[in-house]
Amino acid sequence: MAQSRILVVEDEQLVALDLVKHLSEMGYAVVTASSGQHALDEANRFQPSIALVDIKLPGAIDGIEAARRLRQAFDIPIVYVTAYADDSTLKQASTAEPYGYILKPFQLREIKAAVEMALHRHAMESQRQHQAQRAVRLREEILAIVSHDLRNLLNVILLPAQQLAANKPVCSLEQAIVRGAQRMKRLIGDLLDVASIDAGRLSIERRATPAGELLCQAIESLRPEIAEKSIALDEQLPDPSISVQCDPGRILQVLLNLLGNAIKFTPPQGRITLRLTSGDHLLCFAIADTGPGIAPSEIPLLFERFWHSPRAYRHGAGLGLYIAKGIIEMHGGQIWVDSRLGTGSTFSFTLPRA
Ligand SMILES: Nc1ncnc2c1ncn2[C@@H]1O[C@H](COP(=O)(O)OP(=O)(O)O)[C@@H](O)[C@H]1O
Ligand SMILES: [Mg+2]
Repeated sequence: MAQSRILVVEDEQLVALDLVKHLSEMGYAVVTASSGQHALDEANRFQPSIALVDIKLPGAIDGIEAARRLRQAFDIPIVYVTAYADDSTLKQASTAEPYGYILKPFQLREIKAAVEMALHRHAMESQRQHQAQRAVRLREEILAIVSHDLRNLLNVILLPAQQLAANKPVCSLEQAIVRGAQRMKRLIGDLLDVASIDAGRLSIERRATPAGELLCQAIESLRPEIAEKSIALDEQLPDPSISVQCDPGRILQVLLNLLGNAIKFTPPQGRITLRLTSGDHLLCFAIADTGPGIAPSEIPLLFERFWHSPRAYRHGAGLGLYIAKGIIEMHGGQIWVDSRLGTGSTFSFTLPRA
């Protein structure tokens, strides 16, 4: 194994010399520094694998500051060796995230154990960090394949299938292929949206958009499903021309999911109410249904990804509300639900007015 290199930052000459002598005998390569600045210079030259740092040092850079900078610039573990153990020093010292804290007068065995433990822990942490970075890279690569290659291949199926399915009955094989391919395309889109939200790079292009227009588009897209279940649709839109500052495509995506859920969970002959309420700076959209409602214990989980109520029949991937929350928060708005079991649920979100 390579020899570990220790930087001893200590202004008391005798202590420093004592440490150098014994640590060298133990097989370490050792260099000393007597001030904070000196420590940073020596670290540059010596490239230590660990630093033992006294807290009280002469000069502009005290031990804690030196430790913080050593840790940042050289990514090495720090072990404090000091005579101070009062609460405020301990609190301050912890800001450099030390790997150990040894009180003077110390035993050499203690120092050796602390050095070995710190080196081991630091090596494990670095290894874990590398593994995490590798996993992130791998995920990015998989996403790139999904987003480009898989989506393109799916279009190769979808476009001809749509031509074959034209004028065929809803229950035909051709229409079934189209429906399957469309669901697959939506799922791929959802997975990619989740990845963008997680990475904080969901892109939105805001422009002033009339709220009523967004609601109309959502309703029109889902009209067949509403009719199929004979659901009554109530629209309470005092002033549908009020505009919001938003990415219309993204907000339509949110509305389609919320309205889609409301339709999915409302029994036949039920009722869905769409409501717009305007404040000074915000517009609130609400979608209320007469479905089964959501148990209070499940409400905190609703907006988690892949979450489904264990009571409900599994209808989708459980990504819709997670994506909706990501989109609304990206716009500076909020999304929440009020619900009572047996009565129904109301999903609401706010957007800044244009
Ligand atoms: N209007 C609603 N009424 C009752 N439960 C709902 C409603 N909307 C959502 N949920 C619950 O939240 C879960 C997650 O919804 P969502 O994220 O849209 O995913 P998905 O639609 O794929 O199930 C649903 O599976 C359901 O359990
Ligand atoms: Mg959904």
